Amino acid sequence: QPSLLVDGLGRRARDLRISLSQACTLRCHYCMPAEGLPLLAREELLSVAEVVRLVDVAVGRLGIDEVRLTGGEPLVRGDLELIVAGIAARHPRLPIALTTNGIGLARRAAGLAHAGLTRINVSLDTIDRALFARITRRDRLDDVLAGIDAAVAAGLAPVKINAVALPETLHRAPELLNWCRDRGLDLRFIEAMPLDADREWSPQTLVTAADLLDELGMTMTLTPVGRDDPSAPAALWSVDGGPYRVGIIASMTRSFCGACDRTRITAEGRVRPCLFSDDEIDLAAILRSGGTDDELAGAWREITWRKSAGHADISEVVAPRRTMGAIGG
Ligand code: GTP
Ligand code: 5AD
Ligand code: SF4
Repeated sequence: QPSLLVDGLGRRARDLRISLSQACTLRCHYCMPAEGLPLLAREELLSVAEVVRLVDVAVGRLGIDEVRLTGGEPLVRGDLELIVAGIAARHPRLPIALTTNGIGLARRAAGLAHAGLTRINVSLDTIDRALFARITRRDRLDDVLAGIDAAVAAGLAPVKINAVALPETLHRAPELLNWCRDRGLDLRFIEAMPLDADREWSPQTLVTAADLLDELGMTMTLTPVGRDDPSAPAALWSVDGGPYRVGIIASMTRSFCGACDRTRITAEGRVRPCLFSDDEIDLAAILRSGGTDDELAGAWREITWRKSAGHADISEVVAPRRTMGAIGG
């Protein structure tokens, strides 16, 4: 019987997010520096066996009931299929999700689905090629779109699209929504958080949920319909009274830290209970020095117990040392 992963504020973590790499094929300005993050040595990264072992501990001893693989970009790992298959073999009923930029997915979606992947979220801020290239500093829109098509074809539907709301894309929000609706893709807009490597985030330029609702409201009718579950980051709106719903993740203006159910592992194998707190513990070191499952679970519980309450309000928020690409969304 697992003893659950709870913090001192009474929140229970049930959603594990494991970053598999800090490397990425794109350089989104709200995330990565132009030159990318320093590459980790291969032996610093969690191996397939290590990821599977940590998931075993999380599920068997801590009551985690969903795993999400993130990055950086998880598809840069050639052994991603092995990781998914390794987890699925031991935990056949555990949902295994992926958050990816979609590059390379066209070739791998079917294999990932076959390996046991259950859900996929693809980051896509705009369907305008020039704008996409400016935001990501790479002219790769076509690869992403092909990846999305392949994910749908592989039966990974409903594919969720994540769009960070930016000043340069705000006027195109309805275009992206209609494009997603036409293809049966879920769409969530995300307020940018101060987790960019260039430290350019500012409350002055932040596109808020309210800005998005204003922009979308000019051409469509949005009706609030709540959240999928109380700890889901996205609040949902139905579009034009129909079945289609759009999500808004108001990380900054309506923070949902109080209901957070997430726990994270960085690409080097450090448990990081909160995006905004640099408090971490090196689980890989415990594992690599022969630590038992009990010891791993104990260290994980201990750091979770002191998990930070979350981030401050938009005007007082302090950026953590690690940036998004080094944490894993
Ligand atoms: P679903 O289970 O499909 O709803 O996925 P998800 O929203 O948990 O994961 P995804 O990787 O698609 O994350 C989407 C965005 O939600 C991230 O980029 C973050 O902006 C935001 N998000 C996820 N977890 C947290 C969190 O713990 N705190 C905050 N502030 N934002 C988060
Ligand atoms: N603020 C909010 N979301 C971000 N992402 C990356 N950087 C930021 C940021 N500074 C998003 C990506 C991806 C998800 C994992 O995190 O677009 O969809
Ligand atoms: Fe890469 Fe995702 Fe960061 Fe963009 S947001 S640079 S796709 S890790």
